[in-house]
Amino acid sequence: EKGNYRHYMQKEIFEQPIVVAQTLQSYVRPFEGVVALPDMGFDLAGVKRITIVACGTSYYAGLVAKYWFEQFARVSVDIDVASEFRYRDPVLEPGGLALFISQSGETADTLAALRHARSQDQTIAVVVNVPTSSMAREADLLLPTHAGPEIGVASTKAFTCQLAVLAAFAANLARAKGRLDAAAEADIVAHLQEAPAALNAALATDEEIEGMAHLVAPARDVLYLGRGPDFPMALEGALKLKEISYIHAEGYAAGEMKHGPIALIDDQVPVIVLAPSGPLFEKTVSNMQEVRARGGRIVLISDADGVAEAGEGCMATITMPKVHPLIAPLVYAVPVQLLAYHVAVFKGTDVDQPRNLAKSVTVE
Ligand code: F6R
Repeated sequence: EKGNYRHYMQKEIFEQPIVVAQTLQSYVRPFEGVVALPDMGFDLAGVKRITIVACGTSYYAGLVAKYWFEQFARVSVDIDVASEFRYRDPVLEPGGLALFISQSGETADTLAALRHARSQDQTIAVVVNVPTSSMAREADLLLPTHAGPEIGVASTKAFTCQLAVLAAFAANLARAKGRLDAAAEADIVAHLQEAPAALNAALATDEEIEGMAHLVAPARDVLYLGRGPDFPMALEGALKLKEISYIHAEGYAAGEMKHGPIALIDDQVPVIVLAPSGPLFEKTVSNMQEVRARGGRIVLISDADGVAEAGEGCMATITMPKVHPLIAPLVYAVPVQLLAYHVAVFKGTDVDQPRNLAKSVTVE
């Protein structure tokens, strides 16, 4: 039930610290400082390439994971939306690892892609939230998220739990490939363990975000920008906004903006910038200047250092806790979810049952 919450989506956003902690419990042993995946009867040391397939928000979790698999394990990742993967006759080396990500475990395109990969002699790993689903049953390696039932049509807590599982999986793979020593592994585990508290800190911006919803609600178009693993978070922010508030939104890699979308920018287009301080920050700041020079109105989502450095002249800023880059995508999911939620509530749309959308897309 919804309890004190107005919508399931809101309840599910606020459940994230708990369900992410719950999910992590099955994947890390904090006292030993190690990641521990379910026994897979499959030697990860031999994995040379991973094919990731999913749809929608689950696909964006896969995009974030690509950065992790490549960075930690130095394993190259091929990733596709399921509806493209199935029909492009992908090249799959026999014995390869194919990874499917799905909240429902029933999405028709993803399930068909899984079966195609199986027919091509791939080992099938599945990150799934519904343990009794078709995908869960057909997996060789089942990696459950423990988000609990997700009722709001827009995926929120399932997504952050997917990220938690995928980060642990990437660390596990890196260890199996001899790319992660004990100290580095303990470090990753410690950072993952910081996620629930950081999610709580991110949720504390709720009222502030509610207070700025009126700035975004009148827009016809909204642009979301990010770099590195925060680029998929820009895509996710745009998807959340369009599905529940019906405002056209696009996510872009910050550096790609000048290759086209910059033409859209004027004082009617809010630009939401996701930019934790760190090595990529200066680059994003220069993209913000390009936006500002054209009268664009920026909402900067960063930590206190980033807001201090680049917050001036923004239409609004949202201050996140300062977190390790590994967990930044989980933490930055919260403000984009809350922004979409409050804009939708402000506009009076049906948040939990947006028009034309179904929770589980079981047709092609
Ligand atoms: C977005 C959303 C959809 C789903 C997509 C995949 O908020 O809910 O984009 O992410 O339909 O669904 P699953 O993860 O069940 O395969």
